[in-house]
Amino acid sequence: MLAGRRILLIIGGGIAAYKALELIRLLRTEGASVVPVLTRAGAEFVTPLSVSALAGEKVFQDLFDLTDEAEMGHIQLSRAADLVVVAPATANLMARLAAGLAPDLASTLLLATDKPVLMAPAMNVRMWEHPATRRNCTTLAADGVRFIGPDSGPMACGEFGPGRMAEPPAIRDAIAATLGDGPLTGRHVLVTSGPTHEPIDPVRYIANRSSGAQGAALAAALRDLGARVTFVTGPATVPPPSGVEVVRVETAAEMLEAVQARLPVDAAVFAAAVADWRVRSAAGQKIKKGSAGPPVLEMAENPDILATVAHMTDGRPGLVVGFAAETEHVVDHATAKRARKGCDWIVANDVSADTGIMGGAENAVTLITGEGAETWPRLPKPEVARRLALRLAEALSAPR
Ligand code: C5P
Repeated sequence: MLAGRRILLIIGGGIAAYKALELIRLLRTEGASVVPVLTRAGAEFVTPLSVSALAGEKVFQDLFDLTDEAEMGHIQLSRAADLVVVAPATANLMARLAAGLAPDLASTLLLATDKPVLMAPAMNVRMWEHPATRRNCTTLAADGVRFIGPDSGPMACGEFGPGRMAEPPAIRDAIAATLGDGPLTGRHVLVTSGPTHEPIDPVRYIANRSSGAQGAALAAALRDLGARVTFVTGPATVPPPSGVEVVRVETAAEMLEAVQARLPVDAAVFAAAVADWRVRSAAGQKIKKGSAGPPVLEMAENPDILATVAHMTDGRPGLVVGFAAETEHVVDHATAKRARKGCDWIVANDVSADTGIMGGAENAVTLITGEGAETWPRLPKPEVARRLALRLAEALSAPR
């Protein structure tokens, strides 16, 4: 997948630096060459010797090392690679690049390069969520920097949440995708996500508790394999990933219209928690409390977006995937749903309260295809998304 590719790998200072060693090994196994750059803080976590031994290359550390300047100036070093990868990307390194500061070798290379930059952030959850880091992420994404991760989960500092560096195999796949070698490069995938809001009157609506986490993770995983992703999302609490086309909608009817307007696509994944019903005729003005007592809402059924697309005779996506959140008889109910909706796959999960899956960091799914049911182990949600994206890539590349 990466034969002959040249990666400039900047290793920042964080406990996740140890995973950079595994990343170097993985990249070299695939035939890529890795020129490592170790920041001063990075060298507190991994030694220059282990980095250079694994890379089979000299490790660059100091901007003012005149010997290095004679061998290869920092401008040349930053451009000799096909891609610059920062793993781990610390809050500090991200802030330096976002501000255009270049006080050391790593940030100078990032500023001087004319090649794509891929960052794998790793930091404490509070640092990741700090408004300054949020701003820097937005700035960097607008400047064309691509991101992989971070994942959510328990952290070395004892806290829990987003901030763990993506695992080396996921970074390897994102590197391939950034270089145009991803298994989904050239493919267009549509993902629906989040809840829908169905208005009662101009100020009230019917909603559900979907956060949109699953759909956002999926869109990111598909993007990381090289797909062009159209992300049609209802009002979710989890923000959409960077690097995807975001289409914001409110109601099921708007979601259907947005989806139909973006067809044809190679594959469509319906992860949205679409409201089954809407208020038949929402009031034009705010409904007032009054002597007539509480209003009686007459409901009407919403269009089933998944079933509508899956049953298309003309221009149906090559692969249509639905989700099924069940609380009992998961496989039986999901298998019946697959047939009823006419989709190719159903991703089913048990969302009963005792599983802790709803709103949690992990998911346990059963993938139902034409070949039968396949139960996956309980995994972090980004890993479930990555496996699903890989399966999708496999299915799209198989002769049909
Ligand atoms: O029937 P149920 O809501 O359980 O089906 C879930 C699947 O159908 C999900 O993939 C969901 O995104 C999709 N769906 C839809 N439009 C609806 C209802 C569900 O696309 N109106």
